[in-house]
Order: sequence, then C-alpha cells, then structure tokens
Amino acid sequence: MKKNISIVTVLGGFALLIAGAVFLSSCEGPVGPPGLDGQDGQDGIDGTDGTDGVAGNAVCLTCHNTAVKGAVTAQYEKTLHATSQTFYPGSPTTVEYAGGRIDCAKCHSHEGFVQTVWTGLDTIAAAIPLPQPVACKTCHDFHSSLDFENESNAAIRTTAPVVLIAGGAKVEFSNSESNLCMNCHQARTNPADDTDGTAIVYVHSHYGPHHGPQANFINGLGGYEFRSDLSVKGAHQSGADCVSCHMHAGGTDTGGHSWTVGIEACTSCHSDATDFDVHGGVTEIEGLLADLEAALKAANMLDEDGHAIEDVSYQADSVGALWNFLLVEEDASTGIHNPAYTKALLNNSISVFN
Ligand code: HEC
Ligand code: HEC
Ligand code: HEC
Ligand code: HEC
Ligand code: HEC
Ligand code: HEC
Repeated sequence: MKKNISIVTVLGGFALLIAGAVFLSSCEGPVGPPGLDGQDGQDGIDGTDGTDGVAGNAVCLTCHNTAVKGAVTAQYEKTLHATSQTFYPGSPTTVEYAGGRIDCAKCHSHEGFVQTVWTGLDTIAAAIPLPQPVACKTCHDFHSSLDFENESNAAIRTTAPVVLIAGGAKVEFSNSESNLCMNCHQARTNPADDTDGTAIVYVHSHYGPHHGPQANFINGLGGYEFRSDLSVKGAHQSGADCVSCHMHAGGTDTGGHSWTVGIEACTSCHSDATDFDVHGGVTEIEGLLADLEAALKAANMLDEDGHAIEDVSYQADSVGALWNFLLVEEDASTGIHNPAYTKALLNNSISVFN
C-alpha cells in the first residue's frame, strides 16, 4: 500500500516540473545577431632556455669510473690484504694457513668475514676449503642508500660499532667507516688479572695479544695496568681514525687503498711535521722499548731475538711487563696509535725490574 502511494506522488511531481519548464521557455524573446570577432593579441617573446639538469648518474660516476677503479686496484694489489704474507720460501700464505679455520677465518679470509658480519659471531660454522684473501667485496657491499646528498657512503660492508673480543668493550670512531677495520685489527686475548701483582702466572705458548691489536690499543685498552688506571684515549682516537691516517687522499704509494701512512695524515694537526717523530715522541718510545727489552732479557723472559721464553711461570707484574712489551710491538706503530698510553705502559713495566 505504502509503495503504491509513493509512486503516484513521485509521478505527479514530475508532471508538474515538466509543465513548469515548458511555460518558462515559452516566455523568452528572439535570439540577437552574433558580435564581431576581437583582434588577436601579439605573441609574447620566447623565454630563455633553462640550464641543463645534472645527468642522473653524474654522482655515481665520481666513483664508478675506470680511472678511479684502475688507481684503487693498482694500489690494493700490492698490499698484504691482497697478497697475504709468507714466512719462508714455499710456506703457505697467512690466508692459506688461517683463512679457512673456524677460529681464524673471521679476519683471515673474504668468506670468513662476510659470514661473521652476517651472523654477528666471531667464529664460522664450518671450515672453508679454499679461502680467498681480503678483496674489494670483503670491505664493500652495497650502498646503505643511493641518496648521496643526505648520506654519502662508499658502500662499506659494516660501519657498526665493534664489541671487542678481548674484554667486550664497545668501541667506535666518529668516522664510522673506520669501525670496519676494528672488526679484524683487534687483540684476541687479554693480559692476566692485575689485582695481585705477586700471583704466579704461566707464560703459555703463543703468549701475548694476537698480531694486530690496534683497535684495543688506540682506545687505551689491552695493556697490563699494574692496579692503576693507565687507560687513555688520545687525540689520535678522537680527532683521527684508521681511514683518515691510512687512507688519506693525495698519495700513490701512501694513503687510499695502499693503507700506508704518509705524512699528509699528520700535518693537519702537526703542521710543521716532516716525519712521524713528532716532538721526539717516537724516539722517546723507542728508548723506553729498548730499556724494557734489556730488562726482560736480563730477567730471562725474552730470548736473544726478542721472542718470549714460554712454558715458565713468574709473578704477575713481571708477566704483565712482558705482555706490555709484546702489545706495543704487535701494535706496530711505535706507539703512534696512542703515545700517552704507550709511555705509561712502558714506564710502569720498566719499574717492575728496578
Ligand atoms: C663514494 C663513491 C661511490 C659513489 C658516489 C657511488 N658508488 Fe656505487 N659503489 C662504490 C663502491 C666502493 C662499491 C663497492 C665496490 C665496487 O663494486 O666497486 C659500490 C658498489 C655499487 C654497486 C654494487 C655493485 C656490485 O657488483 O655488487 C652498485 C649497483 C652501485 N654501487 C651503484 C651506484 C649508483 C647507482 C650510484 C649513484 C646513484 C653509486 N653507486 C654511487 C662507490 C660509490
Ligand atoms: C677482514 C679483516 C680485515 C679488515 C676488515 C681490515 N683488515 Fe687490515 N689486515 C687484515 C689482515 C688479516 C692483515 C694481514 C694480511 C696477511 O698477512 O694475510 C691486514 C693487514 C693490514 C695492514 C698491513 C700490515 C702490515 O703488517 O704490513 C694494514 C696497514 C691494515 N691491514 C690496515 C687496515 C685498515 C686501515 C683497515 C680498514 C680500512 C683494515 N686494515 C681492514 C685484516 C683486515
Ligand atoms: C680478530 C681477528 C683475527 C683473528 C680471529 C685471527 N687473526 Fe691472525 N691476524 C689478524 C690481523 C689483523 C693480522 C695482521 C696484523 C698486522 O699485520 O698488524 C693477523 C696476523 C696473523 C699472522 C701473521 C703474523 C705475523 O707475524 O705477521 C698469522 C700467522 C696469523 N694472524 C694467524 C692466525 C691464526 C692461526 C688464527 C686462528 C687461530 C688467527 N690468526 C686469528 C687478525 C686476526
Ligand atoms: C680493507 C678494506 C677495503 C678493501 C679491501 C677495499 N676497500 Fe675500497 N674503501 C674502503 C674504505 C674504508 C673506503 C672509504 C675511504 C674514505 O672514506 O676515504 C673505501 C673507498 C672506496 C672507493 C671510493 C673512494 C675512492 O677511493 O675513490 C672506491 C671507488 C673503492 N673503495 C673501491 C674499491 C675497490 C675497487 C677495491 C678492490 C680493488 C676496494 N675498494 C677494496 C675499504 C676497502
Ligand atoms: C694518527 C694516525 C693513525 C691512526 C688514527 C691509525 N694509525 Fe695505524 N699507523 C699509523 C702510523 C704512523 C703507523 C706506522 C707506519 C709506519 O711505520 O710506516 C701505523 C701502523 C699501523 C699498522 C702496522 C703497519 C705495518 O706496516 O706493520 C697497522 C696494521 C695499523 N696501523 C692499523 C691501524 C688501524 C686498524 C687503525 C684504526 C683502529 C689505525 N691504524 C689507526 C698511524 C695511524
Ligand atoms: C687530529 C689531530 C692529530 C692528527 C691528525 C695527528 N696527531 Fe699526533 N697528536 C695530536 C695531539 C693533540 C697530540 C698530543 C696529545 C696526545 O698525545 O694525545 C699528539 C701527539 C703525538 C705524538 C706524541 C708526541 C709526544 O710529545 O710524545 C706523536 C709521536 C704524534 N702525535 C704523531 C703523529 C703522527 C705520526 C701523525 C700522522 C700519522 C699524527 N700524529 C696525526 C693530534 C694529532
């Protein structure tokens, strides 16, 4: 019922609307004649051409060009990263010797580094049969972004802070590219506890920090400190870093991918330096090292060639002095990575024997 009424109402309203429209149009007068066409305006002067936009791949070509690639590759090929060292004619290289081993591959082969960066572990899951040396794609991966205006980057595989294997401290540089180096260039063991200097400590075989304790040393870590806080980070940690000193611009035999330090790395701060012996600091450290070496030899702790005499036990402070000698030697910068820490460790070590 309701439905029928509403259809009738709608139809009725529609009829009224049509009738109204017919009535209104019938009231209009006749159409007038069309007006004259207006004159065309004059064309404006053409604007000047805009300057060409930057080619889409120009930023890429600053690095991805054959000249850069050739120069980088030529430097890299001469380094120990690429060639790996041998110890006597016919001996395996370090990468052949250590690059496939579960405990060693992290730092001694391409495959080991890629795997451990991915897993976050210090060891690999299984031995690697044919380990390859550190190469472009060990340190480089893909860009963290291609937005170079906001994030310039050289596609470094990892720039994260590093948790040191020995001691577990978290270390980093303000230039995060240098964190890459610290993954490998770190000690693997700490010295004996120094709380009781007279405790008896055993000098086992391979005593000392592993070769390359640079990450520990530059952060004032890894030394035997004789119950006092000798740890110090210097300007070489806060104002410089592995990359700024070892990969500076401007050299062919130094800097860049030669990883050999040139004096250019120093003169931004030591403006009148002509060699590394700034303010006689290296001479002083060499003197202290020679004094400690003589003392350790007199105590029968070092042999004639300067190697630790192993399988013997001594009081902790003496063994600590031996450790510090080996640490400064293995750091291989004659103390330059951390002059103040070097001097403190060596002076305290020498005192043990006086
Ligand atoms: C600051 C230098 C630099 C700039 C700028 C740069 N790259 Fe790279 N790029 C590298 C380096 C170094 C690598 C890793 C080593 C290699 O492959 O040569 C790399 C790797 C790559 C790779 C991976 C290659 C592979 O074989 O896995 C691609 C793709 C790439 N870049 C594209 C680009 C593009 C696209 C741009 C520009 C938008 C660009 N890059 C700008 C330095 C740069
Ligand atoms: C994947 C591990 C790894 C990374 C990452 C790494 N290194 Fe090395 N580096 C080594 C190893 C291992 C050697 C010794 C190579 C050999 O003899 O087989 C070495 C050798 C060196 C040497 C030559 C030392 C000598 O005795 O002549 C320098 C200098 C050096 N690295 C600096 C750096 C710097 C700077 C960085 C960061 C930009 C870096 N390394 C990154 C593992 C690494
Ligand atoms: C945390 C990283 C790391 C691990 C793990 C590691 N090494 Fe090394 N090793 C290095 C670095 C870095 C160098 C090069 C140091 C330098 O030239 O200053 C090096 C150097 C060496 C050398 C050359 C020594 C010399 O007299 O110049 C040998 C041999 C070696 N390692 C063997 C091993 C063995 C064997 C293992 C496993 C038991 C091992 N490494 C584990 C980082 C490591
Ligand atoms: C031991 C680590 C390491 C290895 C091996 C390595 N690079 Fe690099 N590379 C770096 C670091 C760190 C930087 C950043 C340097 C900087 O900021 O000055 C870099 C920068 C670059 C750049 C951009 C800056 C420049 O020098 O023009 C290019 C291109 C490059 N690498 C290519 C290569 C190629 C190609 C190889 C192999 C032949 C290689 N890299 C091997 C660590 C490495
Ligand atoms: C203040 C500059 C400076 C900084 C920062 C620096 N180094 Fe060095 N490094 C040197 C100098 C100088 C030497 C001695 C080089 C020589 O005698 O030719 C050296 C020596 C080394 C050696 C031994 C090279 C060899 O031929 O035996 C290695 C390996 C090394 N540095 C790695 C690193 C690593 C890894 C970092 C960062 C954790 C680092 N350095 C930070 C300046 C620096
Ligand atoms: C960021 C600035 C900076 C750079 C780059 C730098 N140094 Fe230094 N260096 C200092 C400062 C500051 C001191 C003094 C304070 C300290 O020991 O930390 C110093 C101290 C030293 C000392 C100890 C001097 C003494 O009186 O015993 C030596 C040696 C040294 N630097 C060598 C170098 C060498 C070699 C380079 C280049 C490979 C270099 N420095 C690069 C800032 C710098």
